[in-house]
Amino acid sequence: MAAESESCWSCCFSFILSMGFTAFFIWLSLRVTEPKCYLESIYVPALNKSFNSPHNSTLLFNLKLVNPNKDKGVKYDAVNLHFRIFNDSNTTRPLANATVDRFYQGHQKTAHKSGNIIVTGGGGGGNVTAVVNGKVYFRVEFDTTVKYKILVFYTKHHSLWGGANVEINNSSGLKVYGKPLRLGNSLPRIVSGASKLRRGYRALWGFLVNVLVVLHVLT
Ligand SMILES: *[C@@H]1O[C@H](CO)[C@@H](O)[C@H](O)[C@H]1NC(C)=O
Ligand SMILES: *[C@@H]1O[C@H](CO)[C@@H](O)[C@H](O)[C@H]1NC(C)=O
Ligand SMILES: *[C@@H]1O[C@H](CO)[C@@H](O)[C@H](O)[C@H]1NC(C)=O
Ligand SMILES: *[C@@H]1O[C@H](CO)[C@@H](O)[C@H](O)[C@H]1NC(C)=O
Ligand SMILES: *[C@@H]1O[C@H](CO)[C@@H](O)[C@H](O)[C@H]1NC(C)=O
Ligand SMILES: *[C@@H]1O[C@H](CO)[C@@H](O)[C@H](O)[C@H]1NC(C)=O
Ligand SMILES: *[C@@H]1O[C@H](CO)[C@@H](O)[C@H](O)[C@H]1NC(C)=O
Ligand SMILES: *[C@@H]1O[C@H](CO)[C@@H](O)[C@H](O)[C@H]1NC(C)=O
Repeated sequence: MAAESESCWSCCFSFILSMGFTAFFIWLSLRVTEPKCYLESIYVPALNKSFNSPHNSTLLFNLKLVNPNKDKGVKYDAVNLHFRIFNDSNTTRPLANATVDRFYQGHQKTAHKSGNIIVTGGGGGGNVTAVVNGKVYFRVEFDTTVKYKILVFYTKHHSLWGGANVEINNSSGLKVYGKPLRLGNSLPRIVSGASKLRRGYRALWGFLVNVLVVLHVLT
């Protein structure tokens, strides 16, 4: 009798264990990482001193979209871009919008999308200058929805959005920070935005370190 119930228990246990592993692997294969969007370059001809055409209302940009997933494709809906300019450290006014057509991106691929647009907003006449503390700042934001392709299936839609504040060199018309700029979760504020977020991350790190120390002490 005892032996029978023992084997039943071990059978039950291995069943639960294998269910657990199966669930874990399904979870692993369905887990997705969001694509990242970067502003690779932006060029404002009106601010190019040597071009000397301050009323040119064209704006050129280059985006980079990265799919970090090793085994999932990404299907992007139209990507909406909003270009705004700071007229003081807290407020922006709209300049122009742009759209990148829907496209599909394979596993771990990088897509480059460029465009040029005519500034329509911002007080008419394509006024692309506003000086805050002696500098010109743009606010660039994107939003879209994506579906992930797992084997032959598509997931439901996920929203994706982000933005960044971009300082434009007022004699070359290019962005000051040379590297691609992540359109992430920074606030549309010039001074306080970035530092506030960094403080938030530091607080989170402090908390995690404390948890680890407490766990270490307890065990
Ligand atoms: C700025 O204008 C000059 C003169 O037209 C041109 O040679 C240069 O390529 C322009 N800069 C950029 C970044 O296009
Ligand atoms: C504005 O600048 C762009 C880029 O240099 C140029 O292609 C375009 O012809 C200019 N437009 C006008 C109206 O000067
Ligand atoms: C921007 O907002 C901050 C806090 O909300 C305020 O202290 C500051 O005076 C504002 N600056 C301008 C130029 O409005
Ligand atoms: C900045 O732009 C906003 C929106 O267009 C406007 O309401 C505000 O008065 C402007 N501020 C300045 C200082 O030009
Ligand atoms: C850009 O899009 C926003 C929201 O979709 C809209 O409110 C705004 O009027 C548009 N701006 C221009 C300059 O077309
Ligand atoms: C452009 O707008 C800024 C403020 O937003 C203003 O100071 C500047 O005079 C305007 N420039 C032109 C040419 O209208
Ligand atoms: C260009 O930037 C310099 C300093 O970086 C500033 O002194 C100047 O007023 C700016 N000029 C314009 C037209 O924005
Ligand atoms: C702006 O561009 C000019 C010409 O390309 C360069 O000499 C200057 O160092 C740049 N300024 C900044 C702040 O990047």
